[in-house]
Amino acid sequence: MGLYRDAQEAAEKIKEAESATIISHIDADGIASEAVMRQAISREAIDVKSVFVRQLEPLTMKHVPEDDSLKVFIDLGAGQQNLLEERGLSEDEVIIIDHHISQDVDTSYFQVNGLNYGYEKLSAAGLGYFVAKKMDDNNTDLAKIAVVGNVGDMMAREHCGLIGPARDIVEDGVMRGNIIVKENELNCYGISTRPLHFCLSYSDDPYIPGITNNAREAENLLRYDAGIDIKKRNGKWVVWEDLNPEEKRSIISRLALRLYDAGEPTDRLMAEHYIFPDEFRYSPLRNASEFATMLNACGRWVKPKTGSAVCCGDRGEAYRESEYMLRHHRKIIREMMEYIIDNGVTELSHLQYLHVGDKFPDTIVGIGAGMALSKLNWRLPIMILCYLRDENEDGKDYDDVVKVSMRTNDRMVREGVDLQAALQIASEEVGGGGGGHKIAAGAYIPRSAEGEFAENVNRILREQSS
Ligand code: C5P
Ligand code: C5P
Repeated sequence: MGLYRDAQEAAEKIKEAESATIISHIDADGIASEAVMRQAISREAIDVKSVFVRQLEPLTMKHVPEDDSLKVFIDLGAGQQNLLEERGLSEDEVIIIDHHISQDVDTSYFQVNGLNYGYEKLSAAGLGYFVAKKMDDNNTDLAKIAVVGNVGDMMAREHCGLIGPARDIVEDGVMRGNIIVKENELNCYGISTRPLHFCLSYSDDPYIPGITNNAREAENLLRYDAGIDIKKRNGKWVVWEDLNPEEKRSIISRLALRLYDAGEPTDRLMAEHYIFPDEFRYSPLRNASEFATMLNACGRWVKPKTGSAVCCGDRGEAYRESEYMLRHHRKIIREMMEYIIDNGVTELSHLQYLHVGDKFPDTIVGIGAGMALSKLNWRLPIMILCYLRDENEDGKDYDDVVKVSMRTNDRMVREGVDLQAALQIASEEVGGGGGGHKIAAGAYIPRSAEGEFAENVNRILREQSS
């Protein structure tokens, strides 16, 4: 198979290197990817450094050191090979491990790209894991972090669990003893830490009539229909993981009934979850999806190295800091959701959008867009625009740049929606740049173009649907 052959070749190239620099992305998958690769490389006694960027673009290229280390681009790079060429990087100096659409350039950089093998549900951390495993069979302890990356990039969403090679990684973790697979559990976020009635009321996939967005009704269902004392254990709110199988069955059958009565399918009510038995109960590191949120919280708030340290086992200072980041992250996301709902979106024929100005940072609007979609019209892709905050970390004024984030769902993708293509075309038309995936994409555009941009994207989405 192409993946394993290319992973083997990448592993050999890395093992020959005297030193390496990992260049990765600041989201959960990017941080997990970096943690997998950094551990695998340092175990070979190769000197390794890491650089995190929010996007590989001309401004952030200067963080890529000009030295003779092997440059391992992971979770980015495939779509920005022109920048590597412009830097004068040769084929021997670069490895790209990515799952984004590849750009055509003259230099044939070596790539391990999931899209080349037809794997749509394998994230960069998953690809990195296969390279790490080819470097040393004993690296299977890294499966846990690779699973966090895959889940963080929503690879488990469509099929209510990981599939294909991403699922094989889970099996490695099970063999290694640091992953437990829980089948047929509630398809909700927060089964390890969220009070159960909130956990249920946040469910949006599926949307459960009467329960979604209604914690009081969820509490009633648990207490009075299912007879579960949700406050009973140690005076604390009960979480899903506390329940016995009978209690779980009782809740699921009641939720199924609600869906059935509303004529909705029940097939998305249950999902596979990945639990980490080596983490404390009630810790956000206890399962893959909550662990991923913690990484996102660190990365999107400019502390990717803190998240990476947690991935590598730090349960001291880095862990405490990441807990703080997580609380902050949740608070801002909550505020952004309220802002989007309160201000409403503008609906065009094939798009809904909102400009949040400088109220929320560019690094989190994509997450807000994804979450808002489930509360708004789920038949239209959503686009959030915002101004880049003047952080000046690159020593450059971002005043004239607008960040765009778009999200859609699997259903629209099946009907032909391709956000990657839409944003790439629309942003290039106005002198910006963008990319991503069919289901989730982003772009930077000049402020002078923001007025017409939504109409342009709407036009492209209309063309895609015809
Ligand atoms: O690919 P990249 O990691 O940069 O993607 C960023 C975001 O896109 C992720 O945080 C995830 O929420 C979203 N995504 C998604 N479905 C995919 C791939 C990415 O929702 N298949
Ligand atoms: O930033 P956001 O989470 O919205 O990014 C969604 C996807 O779009 C990610 O895969 C990201 O790598 C991609 N993206 C891009 N070019 C940009 C911004 C985002 O390819 N300028």
